[in-house]
Amino acid sequence: MRLIAVSALREGVILAKPVLNDAGQILVNRGMPLSMKMIVRLQKLGITFVYIEDEVTKDIMIRPAITEKTRREAMGVMKASFDQIVDQHKISKKFSFAQMERQFTSVVRDILDQVKEHKEAVSLLSEVCAHDNYILSHSLNVTIYSLALSIKLKKFSPKQLEEIGLGAMLHDVGKLFISTAILKKPSRLTEDEFNEVKKHTELGFELLRREYNIPLTVAHCAYQHHERLNGSGYPRGLKEKDIHPYGKIIGITDVYDAVTSNRVYRRAMLPHEGLEILYAGASSEFDQGLIEAFRKSIVIYPNGLTVHLNDGRKGVILRQTPNISDRPVVLILEEGQDTLAHPYELDLSQNHSVLISETDTTLLGKR
Ligand SMILES: [Fe+2]
Repeated sequence: MRLIAVSALREGVILAKPVLNDAGQILVNRGMPLSMKMIVRLQKLGITFVYIEDEVTKDIMIRPAITEKTRREAMGVMKASFDQIVDQHKISKKFSFAQMERQFTSVVRDILDQVKEHKEAVSLLSEVCAHDNYILSHSLNVTIYSLALSIKLKKFSPKQLEEIGLGAMLHDVGKLFISTAILKKPSRLTEDEFNEVKKHTELGFELLRREYNIPLTVAHCAYQHHERLNGSGYPRGLKEKDIHPYGKIIGITDVYDAVTSNRVYRRAMLPHEGLEILYAGASSEFDQGLIEAFRKSIVIYPNGLTVHLNDGRKGVILRQTPNISDRPVVLILEEGQDTLAHPYELDLSQNHSVLISETDTTLLGKR
């Protein structure tokens, strides 16, 4: 399969993976030729990239970071709790935080086990999702990324990893109390609207800190994930040493997921583009060491992505190299102007002078 921008799709192309909504329901199925109507639908859903079938790349596989079952379970547990929190806010019905803590922790343990076992770096691009409930999918993605990064750091105890997972799942819980009209506004926010959005950090903290079932460090994830090392963040403008390590981690994974996810009003970035955003803020906004660790825990060039190499060769990412996330194995399809009759593998971890100079998501390949 090959990773292609929706803007480059033509009629008759066949999807290799279905496009799902947050509940895991199929919106556009795999295996049949796309009509113009379906392509327009994908665009309207805000999908930026899809995987298509392609004869040359048919052996390229993608292994999701967590199972479909765990993803669905996590989304279900979060949805049930978040719905009740909103409800409680309206009609002050007692909501069981003890039960929520138990359910969330059990989901976090599942994700933790799977991310630990997943020998490869983490890629969430394989989940081609249209987000009807952005907070849910974003919270789950941030949880997976935060756990992958925290495991990579090798300094947290199992208990701390659970706290990080819980903190990541609940980091944006305060957004449940912000008007959806503002949260979903496709154009630039006014100053007043942005000030309103910023309140989600304090609202989340206030909600979580009162609950003795929820560790205070988890409440601080909601409070601190928009703080930046140089004091330019919010709500308190905390500086480096005053920001909790969990807050620094979630600050990074939150931004990364926001820029690499599908949104209706702008295109999603590829992983290496998302990393560039983080590197632009390295040391000033984000901890440089944490960005480095994060870079090692995620897939930078996903399988199926077309790449140009600095020596004129062109190919598609075939598989990842364990522990070296920026040096995958490439299936070489072209050399200069020549299309190869017999494509071959090139392991970038063994060929250090060869670099990926460009990525291309517009080539539909030969079918
Ligand atoms: Fe946030």
